[in-house]
Amino acid sequence: MNPSSARPAILLARAIFPEVVDKLAAHFDVQANQADELWPPDELARRLQGKQGVFTTGSERIDAALLRGCPGLKICANMAVGYNNFDLPAMSAAGVLGTNTPGVLTETTADLGFALLLAAARRVTEGEHFLRAGHWDRWACDLLAGQDVHGSTLGIIGMGRIGQAIARRGALGFGMKVIYHNRSRLPEADEAALGARYVRKAELLRSADHVLLALPYTPEARHGIGAAELALMKPGATLVNIARGGLIDEAALAQALREGRIAAAGLDVFEGEPQVHPGLLACANVVLTPHIGSATLRTRKAMAHLAADNLIGYLTESRALTPLNLEALNQPTP
Ligand code: GLV
Repeated sequence: MNPSSARPAILLARAIFPEVVDKLAAHFDVQANQADELWPPDELARRLQGKQGVFTTGSERIDAALLRGCPGLKICANMAVGYNNFDLPAMSAAGVLGTNTPGVLTETTADLGFALLLAAARRVTEGEHFLRAGHWDRWACDLLAGQDVHGSTLGIIGMGRIGQAIARRGALGFGMKVIYHNRSRLPEADEAALGARYVRKAELLRSADHVLLALPYTPEARHGIGAAELALMKPGATLVNIARGGLIDEAALAQALREGRIAAAGLDVFEGEPQVHPGLLACANVVLTPHIGSATLRTRKAMAHLAADNLIGYLTESRALTPLNLEALNQPTP
């Protein structure tokens, strides 16, 4: 018998670091996608035939329809902390484990959040476009005057690992007053260590000079920042989103930016990405980046290795490092 035929087969849905492909190939029969083709759901389902595991990246939707056609699948390992591409209840019902990559990207993503905050509030990219376009012909007392970040009030919506890393940057590095809103309040000791105060969402929107979104996306959270919420924000406020695009009603944001109802925005994520709402593309006072929150080579490699270790651990020893629905999988069927 060919010993390799006893090895589980897995699919890599996207191109990934060669060292990670090699690591997986030591344990599995790997079907890689180093050409980085983007497969529609039916093609993904076709390629998953006979596979026990799949390495996903957050772009591949894993839902009941796909799972029905892939009865041999046991694990989907996302190379992302967010997993809104997974229908977890459907995965649990099909006996499929989902895993994500928390922890390893926290500080890198918080750095990008702060970069967007600084760039938006201090009009960095607007200034660069102005200069490159040859418009800089003299000093002026209010040339590209923006908003202060240091000493201002930072409002963080979503106080998980990344929200807390941003709070630390704000409080310790920039002397900011930090307020936050979250599904559940942090223990008092954690609030004290972070120097952060819990407030209701409306109060946060009213009092923050800079609002930063770091919460997970769920269908209930869709457009949680829309026209009504933007209307509560201060006229000089900035809005930063490093979480998921669908949290913001982008048409309402484009209108608020166009009308100067808030000063600026910094966005790394978009509802229809890689498409960006045309109203946002037309605004000078928004800094736009292509979903690069965790994009340093070191962090992306750590994420890829963690996703790979989840596949290896689960398919060889029934143990995953960062499982999402293990408890639901272990429930006896009623
Ligand atoms: C990126 O958006 C991630 O969820 O890791």
